[in-house]
Amino acid sequence: MFLFQRIVLFLFLYLSGAQYLFAQWPLSDSTERAIDRLLAAMTLEEKIGQMNQYNGFWDVTGPAPKAGADKFKYDHFKQGLVGSVLNVRGVTQVRALQELVVKQSRLGIPLLFGFDAVHGYNTVLPIPLAEAASWDLPAIERSARVSATEAAASGINWTFAPMVDISRDARWGRVMEGAGEDPFLGAKIAVARVKGFQGNDFSSPFNILATAKHFAGYGFAEGGRDYNTVDVNALTLHNTILPPFYAAVNGGVASVMNSFNIFNGVPATASHFLVQDILKRNWKFKGVVVSDWGSGIEMIDHGFAENLSQVASLAANAGSDVDMESYAYVNHLSEEVRKGNVSIATIDQSVRRVLRLKFMLGLFKDPYKYCDSTRERVYSMHPEHSQVARDMAKRSMVLLKNEKQLLPLVEKGKKIAVIGALAADKNSPLGNWRLAAKDSSAVSLLEGFDAASISYQYAPGVKLVAGDPVHFVQELAINTTDTSGMAYAISIARTADIVVMMLGEHGLQSGEGRSRAQLNLPGLQQQVLEAVYAVNPNVVLVLTTGRPLAITWAAEHIPAILLAWQPGSQSGHAITDVLLGKYNPSGKLPMTFPRSDSQLPIYYNHFSTGRPGPKKEVFWSHYIDESHAPLYEFGFGKSYTHFSYSDLQLASRGDTVVVQVNLTNTGSVVGEEVAQLYIHDRFSSIVRPIRELKGFKKVQLAPGVSTTITFELPVSLLGYYNETGTLLLEPGWFDFYVGGSSAATLSTSFLYSKK
Ligand code: GLC
Repeated sequence: MFLFQRIVLFLFLYLSGAQYLFAQWPLSDSTERAIDRLLAAMTLEEKIGQMNQYNGFWDVTGPAPKAGADKFKYDHFKQGLVGSVLNVRGVTQVRALQELVVKQSRLGIPLLFGFDAVHGYNTVLPIPLAEAASWDLPAIERSARVSATEAAASGINWTFAPMVDISRDARWGRVMEGAGEDPFLGAKIAVARVKGFQGNDFSSPFNILATAKHFAGYGFAEGGRDYNTVDVNALTLHNTILPPFYAAVNGGVASVMNSFNIFNGVPATASHFLVQDILKRNWKFKGVVVSDWGSGIEMIDHGFAENLSQVASLAANAGSDVDMESYAYVNHLSEEVRKGNVSIATIDQSVRRVLRLKFMLGLFKDPYKYCDSTRERVYSMHPEHSQVARDMAKRSMVLLKNEKQLLPLVEKGKKIAVIGALAADKNSPLGNWRLAAKDSSAVSLLEGFDAASISYQYAPGVKLVAGDPVHFVQELAINTTDTSGMAYAISIARTADIVVMMLGEHGLQSGEGRSRAQLNLPGLQQQVLEAVYAVNPNVVLVLTTGRPLAITWAAEHIPAILLAWQPGSQSGHAITDVLLGKYNPSGKLPMTFPRSDSQLPIYYNHFSTGRPGPKKEVFWSHYIDESHAPLYEFGFGKSYTHFSYSDLQLASRGDTVVVQVNLTNTGSVVGEEVAQLYIHDRFSSIVRPIRELKGFKKVQLAPGVSTTITFELPVSLLGYYNETGTLLLEPGWFDFYVGGSSAATLSTSFLYSKK
């Protein structure tokens, strides 16, 4: 196209779309008309190019690939056959690739730059499951804002987050990425994260596209084994799996990512039911559906498609708009169109969605909007971000046990031993999915103690892993034989007043591809814990993990247990703040902790069954060799103070049920409590869980102070979805429970009688 023509076309796009380039999502028809004009100018190949996403590969600022695997990709960029990339980051790289496409391809349509800024970028925030334990929506939004700010400053304009998969199985390594087992909490957190990533309007160069993933059902992989078969019914889909996605879509999320699994026997990437029927038709989702990495080509391994041509037509017809790294669309979709297997209208609908996001971000106006090297320098690892990370980490920690008043730690005049390889580990606290962070850049617990001028003796006890794996793909060699450090650890424990032990999982023992069959303390850590306890019972266990663990022995013996999760860059400072009582722990479990991994899946919002227990005889639902109860229930978490609930009142006001309760801080220090509201629909035409979270409020109270907490529950929240996704609201009796966990006993009842 001659330069003059390009200028005319560009002006058309800019002027016709300009007034709406800064519009809120969804954009208005003026931009749609601009897209019409662009579509009219595009060849079929160029349209399919917008549906093609490549992973970053060669050093874009280096010499262009002359041969080999990268050459064809390089050429595709110049031919306008790529619409977005992932893992190309850094202002220099992003600008270079954007210039190549904008200046050398025929229409100069700018690229989207995607990246997994899941819980931070250079500054790493606590893993998302930890953040969920804070039940603190403003804090979670602030955390996502930090991720977006640093990613955007680095050239990224699309994050593949939040992951909103509900899961009830801690063996699944990706529970670390989500918000736990409950759809109500998961939905609230999904919206907070989307708001944090996308902000209020996309004119800001700090706001980026968010992605609700993985659509849908990925967290129900059988056996908790990643990528395994998912076989759930429509009731679980509509009542448990979809609510966080629906909330994210209603919260304006710009994109949704397919999941790897099948649903009803069809791979999600080709699921017309999930993508076209539910997401695009019923929910009116106007953004982009991007496949997961290779989820298209994996249809062949699923036994669903015979070849990439079929993958291309099945996925495109199902409404999956962008193909990440399957090479199906770029190599086969135009042929499928020519053969009549995919209509041009289908292509145009997908391309429109991609172009819509690019208009929304203002990339046609300024393709280099996210390429400011000064911003990159100023915002990367900004000190304010470290403060947000430290605050988020403190709010995420859950106090599981605190007997003998070992906590808060009184370090003055006390001889303290610190034991555990993870106490010195600067890498594990970053957790998984921290690709942009500098390896081993976290503040370790020892560094946190040093900064707080706590004197201590340290012993690793036993190494957790052989070598020092810091990279994403490296398998971990867990140490199960080398006990050489045990004797010294025991010796310093014997003479200490208090022993702080930091034990748990390595940061890369959870996350994608990291399912575990056993939920014990990995390696020789349990032996160290028991050996130390045998010589000194005053043990404070700091548990660091990406998932719930079956720490039953510790729960029965160790007097104080603080669940720190994987707290991110500021780990050591945040744990020290909590141990010293500078912050009173307020976290509550977003996922049930099992007594043993053989209880899985175990979750609070289960059905009653026809033989609930416990009963004296054997004929009820239980194990003969293990309790049927969890170790720690959903919503559980202690404080350095104490709270009491009283005066539960309920009133019906039109379509709202108003629930009030009195909360008092009966302890001696300021503390925050997450008051939780659960319902139980006693009898319904489809059985309902024995409890369902329908409200929560986090309040701070000074010692001796009381407050009235009010929940205003839309009566629709008493309803549930049937197998067709229709909301049913049936008259009948409901029990309401309010308290500090899903085991709350303070209750009242309400007879809902439909008008
Ligand atoms: C991975 C993950 C997905 C991620 C994508 C791009 O396989 O499943 O969550 O966003 O690939 O990195």
